[in-house]
Amino acid sequence: MRVHILADAAATAERAADIVEGAIRSTPHPGIGLATGSTMVGVYRSLARRCREGTLSFSEATVYLLDEYIGLDADHPQTYRNVITRSFTELVDLRNDAVFAPDCQAPDLDGEARRYDRLVRAAGIDIQLLGIGGNGHIAFNEPGTPFDAKTNVVSLSEATRRDNARFFDSLDDVPGNAITQGIGTILQAKQILLVAQGSHKSRPVRDALEGPVSTETPASAVQLHPNVAVVLDREAASLLSNLRPES
Ligand code: F6R
Repeated sequence: MRVHILADAAATAERAADIVEGAIRSTPHPGIGLATGSTMVGVYRSLARRCREGTLSFSEATVYLLDEYIGLDADHPQTYRNVITRSFTELVDLRNDAVFAPDCQAPDLDGEARRYDRLVRAAGIDIQLLGIGGNGHIAFNEPGTPFDAKTNVVSLSEATRRDNARFFDSLDDVPGNAITQGIGTILQAKQILLVAQGSHKSRPVRDALEGPVSTETPASAVQLHPNVAVVLDREAASLLSNLRPES
């Protein structure tokens, strides 16, 4: 595991974008796994800038979202597909048919989860971006999720719904269910890039990187993967015992 500790959130976004760019350049048809949420906003902004400036192209890439809420209308601004469209995919030169997400409008959600799992595994993810939840979740895999879980329909914990309430008018509007790639699916990626910023992530980051590998901290599953880069700002890294600040 390579841990990069940088001065601030802006620097983490640039370093994470560098790592994504490296993965894109190393393969002719990259498969990229996308996380939604505040952590990735700067990363996607940096990647979009590189594309706009003509130094990086996504024209040969295919992207796969980690997860999607159940129960929102397809045109709701907070579906993860719509968030990712606004913050990333419509800003770069991806082909229109190169963006995949779980279809939570499907009549058979369990069947849709199985279909999406097969799709992601068959595609092969070259680099999987991950944020980390305040309770240590990755994607929507909450504490207690087995590490071999496939893509499935899940209930969101109260903690996760509260964390995400900032994107909705009220806590009651935050969906209680989602389809998420399972930890087993995520671990199939060739490379994992975990990004975290801010002091509110320091405890889950410490538990994930230096705590025991335990389903109580879903992100600790990254310790089982052979090719992981972790990009943190100083605040997110502040509880790690082995600080290695970079400029
Ligand atoms: C969303 C996802 C989540 C977030 C996590 C952190 O696709 O996978 O696990 O990465 O909840 O969210 P932010 O970045 O908003 O702190």
